Amino acid sequence: MRMSGGDPMADQRLRAGVIGCGGISNSHTKALSLMPEVNLVAVSDIDESRARAFVEQYGAEHAYTNVDEMLARDDIDFVVNATANNLHAPLSIKALEAGKHVLVQKPMALTLVEADAMIAAEKRSGKKLMVSFFEFFHPAFKRAKELVDRGAIGDVFFVKAIMAWYTPSTDVWRFDPKISGGGILMDGHVHHVAYFLHLLGDPVVESVYSEHGTLNSDARVEDTGVTLIRTSRAIGEISGSNRVLEPNAQNGRLFKEWIEISGSKGTIHIRPTERPSLRVFLNDGELPEDLSGGWIAPRLEWVPFHERGRSAHFNPEEDPWVGEHRHFVECIREDKPVISNGQFGRNVLEVLMAGYQSGRERRAIPLPLAAVAR
Ligand SMILES: NC(=O)c1ccc[n+]([C@@H]2O[C@H](COP(=O)([O-])OP(=O)(O)OC[C@H]3O[C@@H](n4cnc5c(N)ncnc54)[C@H](O)[C@@H]3O)[C@@H](O)[C@H]2O)c1
Repeated sequence: MRMSGGDPMADQRLRAGVIGCGGISNSHTKALSLMPEVNLVAVSDIDESRARAFVEQYGAEHAYTNVDEMLARDDIDFVVNATANNLHAPLSIKALEAGKHVLVQKPMALTLVEADAMIAAEKRSGKKLMVSFFEFFHPAFKRAKELVDRGAIGDVFFVKAIMAWYTPSTDVWRFDPKISGGGILMDGHVHHVAYFLHLLGDPVVESVYSEHGTLNSDARVEDTGVTLIRTSRAIGEISGSNRVLEPNAQNGRLFKEWIEISGSKGTIHIRPTERPSLRVFLNDGELPEDLSGGWIAPRLEWVPFHERGRSAHFNPEEDPWVGEHRHFVECIREDKPVISNGQFGRNVLEVLMAGYQSGRERRAIPLPLAAVAR
């Protein structure tokens, strides 16, 4: 239980609620519990033991099994919706209608129709809706974006990204299309589609082509895919699989993430699970003053894998989850636009939906798409 007595920040704190106390909610809720500018008022989960565990672990003041009861509280300013994909739209709309700002996990929704309903609720309520892409606050991804923005590698024309891991059992909600809305595109590609759009300043996407399928499992959704995104000035190649057996050489984890960003003057590599996690290659030798030797790496402490908790491999001041929530809180406080609002989340989802259509029709799909309930 957090006490506010005597704390000068107490009356300025924004008051948070968390919907869903499952896997990734640990990262959200831990971050909220670490932020002096936030008071973690309540958490909710249909599984009472999970909600109670979060009270114990992160110092939330109240636990609910019924989200409506939590949303009825008038002392909650914003909520994090960290439930499975099928509950992103209904619970986020409910929360917006209850007058709460909402940070919702990716993918924003299952369909563009749902995304539109969320954007309409965002507008009606006058509250902020942000779709969580934590890598926008990851030190290596953030640094790469800053370098691109200041022209360090010239005009970006090619981004190649892969996210691959191994999920042993397909008997989980991620592989149930009614809950997940899809496989690796909705779960893995979504991150790099978002980062591609973010890097390029949310450009107009001209077309999307995707090859994907269930190639190395008995899942009911695609386990492997490659998706190409075409804008007028760049091509993004987003690949991934949740059935790749490849231990990471540095930490033994079955998780791989590489991003290569090429511009007219050089290339940036991001490998968040490796050290260094950021490298910049410039072939004209004219390095900006803070780069040296052709590559740079942000200061990241190396923590042996067995000593890591979730997100523990970041220096505390660089923890992307804290950075993300801090940004959201600042935007609420100062009424500033969030980095990834409902429309941005929809733009990401539109690429994924075009990817699915491309897979069905075996052709490149021009955007924009008509919003249909798939
Ligand atoms: N950004 C990332 O790196 C990342 C990583 C993992 C998951 N995610 C996303 O986060 C979301 C959650 O994934 P997860 O792996 O944590 O799932 P999870 O199944 O572990 O957690 C979901 C929780 O929501 C609870 N829940 C279900 N219905 C509810 C309701 N009506 N009210 C309150 N709680 C309810 C469940 O009981 C469960 O505890 C998904 O959308 C997923 O795509 C993002």
